[in-house]
Amino acid sequence: MAGSRTALGVDVGGTGIKGAVVDLDTGQLITDRHRIPTPSPSTPAAVGATIAEIAQSFGFTGPVGVDFPGVVLDGVVQTAANVDKSWIGTSLPHVVGDLLPGPSVYLNDADAAGLGEVVYGAGHGHMGTVLTVTFGTGIGTAIIHDGVLVPNAELGHIEIGGEDAEWRASALAREREDLSWEEWAGRASRYLQTLEALLWPELIILGGGISKKPHKWVPFLKTRTPLVVAELLNNAGIVGAAHAAWEAAAKG
Ligand code: BGC
Repeated sequence: MAGSRTALGVDVGGTGIKGAVVDLDTGQLITDRHRIPTPSPSTPAAVGATIAEIAQSFGFTGPVGVDFPGVVLDGVVQTAANVDKSWIGTSLPHVVGDLLPGPSVYLNDADAAGLGEVVYGAGHGHMGTVLTVTFGTGIGTAIIHDGVLVPNAELGHIEIGGEDAEWRASALAREREDLSWEEWAGRASRYLQTLEALLWPELIILGGGISKKPHKWVPFLKTRTPLVVAELLNNAGIVGAAHAAWEAAAKG
């Protein structure tokens, strides 16, 4: 039986846009996940229509959280590494706000995943600095200290060996270069070691689609910081976005 705290989360990714209604007492999805492939080209009009279609499909009228794979400041997209560049400078509330069934909030996708994991998943109960790293089309990062998010950390784009870290160490890089899991894990290790030397987190949560097959690569990683695999897997963004929406609505 669902509790009274429910919100809708919509997770916008480079390959798919997915949403579900979340019970925020448990962090569980209480509807099926509705997923539609990300339109190509992934322009604001096309992606906005897809977000609206998903959000309207549940007959739900409460708060809505939408996450996006770029920096989001006050609802305005600032970067678009893996979606159509015309998103830069686009206001998410302007494009989709009126089409959503309830009050809405907007945040970065890795921030949403990090919140989901820290509140309900692998980081539950951890104080101090918890760093979530999502390996997917890009590399997303979320810094959460004592449960409080420092939004829009773009640590996927730090330079390592003169190259954008995301270009060398994302899950996509492994596929693009046809690397073995061990080879790719060597790159992911170097990346994580660079982050831990800069931030000294107490815990690193490994997320993104690739966290569904942790046995293939996590055993090869070498870090000082304890590593845990994301528990909410592909739903972390939906859950974190719904959590952010509920928190914003509760504050009024
Ligand atoms: C973007 C981040 C995003 C990450 C994961 C990066 O390329 O710059 O904002 O969180 O990809 O989607």
